[in-house]
Amino acid sequence: MQFQWYPGHMTKAKRQMQEDIKLIDLIIELVDARIPFSSRNPDIDELGKQKSRLILMNKADLADTQRTKAWSDYFRGKGYFVAGLDARSRSGMKQIQNEIMEACREKIERDRRRGIKNRPVRAMVVGIPNVGKSTFINTFAGKACAKTGNKPGVTKGKQWIRLNKSVELLDTPGILWPKFEDQAVGLKLALIGSMKDEILNVDELALELINYLRKEYPGALSERYQADETVEASAILEDIAEKRKCLKKGGGLDYSKAAALALEEFRNGKIGRLTIELPEE
Ligand code: G4P
Repeated sequence: MQFQWYPGHMTKAKRQMQEDIKLIDLIIELVDARIPFSSRNPDIDELGKQKSRLILMNKADLADTQRTKAWSDYFRGKGYFVAGLDARSRSGMKQIQNEIMEACREKIERDRRRGIKNRPVRAMVVGIPNVGKSTFINTFAGKACAKTGNKPGVTKGKQWIRLNKSVELLDTPGILWPKFEDQAVGLKLALIGSMKDEILNVDELALELINYLRKEYPGALSERYQADETVEASAILEDIAEKRKCLKKGGGLDYSKAAALALEEFRNGKIGRLTIELPEE
């Protein structure tokens, strides 16, 4: 799902989020593990400041394991609970369940002191478009889930998914608006494919990618394309066009085709597990 945002959309999304946050104990925020900073919207910190917080670095299967660890440490240092995730796979869900309970430990203990027993933790999933919110909800809830109906005191129409006796999840995720007024953020979102390609210059985007990889992941392009990495990015793109036989109809190399190919292969992990930003930047 790709999104065009207008001020009206953002205001509406924000208002909805404010309402939903009143109903929950825990915010489960999904970010893209390849760009954990640029795929966040820090406005959620203000909106959810009274709530327990868990950041899930999703699409960790596409990201650099070492850098995912560095980002986990960074977020933990800021007081968030954190876990890496491939939302398509059920295998990490037990750990997520544990993180949820840890993140809400204080609330659970407060309940216990007040004599409230077995009140489930209520959570909602939030994140910018395309980070994997729906995939996560589907995998996490699995087949075993039963939707609970409306409850007294809960806004009409809200559906809760009862995951087990200790956790309930709001069935619709909260959509956060990306911070793409920041150009560097916009560029990273474009690189991972979270913006419409029609509004972007694919050639320039591929050159940015090539430059980044040449510097931060030396060897990745030569391994995938047998490209000489010592030359300029445009020459590397030309090399890719030749090696992959990206040709125009009338003859000659088709750079845009090569650019689209390199971006596509980056996005689906064929160039390797790559994370294109670091916490200290
Ligand atoms: P959203 O609700 O936040 O907008 O995201 P959604 O779940 O629709 O997921 C967006 C895309 O990301 C989907 O791919 C989904 O399969 C993929 N995805 C979600 N989680 C992961 C993950 O952990 N790893 C990887 N590699 N991909 C993930 P799509 O191309 O839109 O659809 P499809 O490929 O499922 O057909």
